[in-house]
Amino acid sequence: MRTVTKVEELRAACDGARRAGLSVGLVPTMGFLHEGHRSLMQAAGRADDFVVVTIFVNPLQFGPNEDLAAYPRDLDHDAEVAESEGVAVLFVPGVTEMYPDPPRTTVHVDGLTDGLCGAARPTHFDGVTTVVAKLFAIVGPSRAYFGRKDAQQLAVVTRMARDLNLPVEVVGCPLVREADGVAMSSRNAYLDAEDRTAARVLSRALGAAADAVEAGERDAATLRAGIRSAIGEVDRVGLEYVEVGDAVDLEPVGTITGPVLIALAAQVGKARLIDNVGVTFRPDGTAHVDRGIAASTIGTVSVPSGSLPDPLPSESETPCAAG
Ligand code: PAJ
Repeated sequence: MRTVTKVEELRAACDGARRAGLSVGLVPTMGFLHEGHRSLMQAAGRADDFVVVTIFVNPLQFGPNEDLAAYPRDLDHDAEVAESEGVAVLFVPGVTEMYPDPPRTTVHVDGLTDGLCGAARPTHFDGVTTVVAKLFAIVGPSRAYFGRKDAQQLAVVTRMARDLNLPVEVVGCPLVREADGVAMSSRNAYLDAEDRTAARVLSRALGAAADAVEAGERDAATLRAGIRSAIGEVDRVGLEYVEVGDAVDLEPVGTITGPVLIALAAQVGKARLIDNVGVTFRPDGTAHVDRGIAASTIGTVSVPSGSLPDPLPSESETPCAAG
């Protein structure tokens, strides 16, 4: 694995890979890597020959009172994770490399960024789309892998790539959970032991809503009220929002008649956590709920450095679907 810090080094590496006939897979991250990130690298390694992981804690996507300075970092561990997943290039730019001057050009995706997390974080998604557009421009034609943990981000980035004809196929991958159901997140590092226990209520409440949908419940207000009341019973958890939104345009729905996202954000101790489940419908009209996958199902690929990962045998669960 090569670690590079300069934009032009990354661009040259990706151009070189494509000239050699290799397909490029991109996994953008902010580091402090866990099994959720690892699953994206594995998905990239299955579909693409030359996997690039980027680690950049992007100041543009943090609000003035958010956790930019406190955001957890461990570059040595991250490099070990990426290397063990057969990553070809790790890109770790400094802030001045990505933003030599304060950008006068930003990317805004209208509408999709207003609700859910966008309501409490009004500048967040412009920061995300601006840095992701830059990464797409540097890496060039590729597939880029994003987790459904950040379902709104996935929808926004997918729409950006389409609207701007970027030569990047955005691929959505499953939300990875800890053994007790808590969605994996770099921000879980902020939780003390009691917060960590309290955080379980988020996935438990979503799981109960998922059960209700599978049993035939279609009323969004009923589902939201159930989640609100379960979370209300846990002192340490402050619900920011719970919404049932259309899976593509994220607009709130009253009655579930097609694919939706049931998404929430909550403050638990020092951490702002998000979680969601996705509802789709089988041809026979019954609901299927995507509750994510367990971290224990994410193995370590362990590829000797310098070689390309072999395609893994396909799993019973479809690991990724175009997002
Ligand atoms: P970060 O939070 O580091 O996440 C990087 C990628 O990992 C995102 O696509 C995110 O959805 C995915 N991911 C995180 N936790 C996951 C989990 N439990 N299961 C599955 N995937 C998970 O998201 C960002 O960074 C940034 O906004 C970024 C896109 C890099 C732009 O700065």
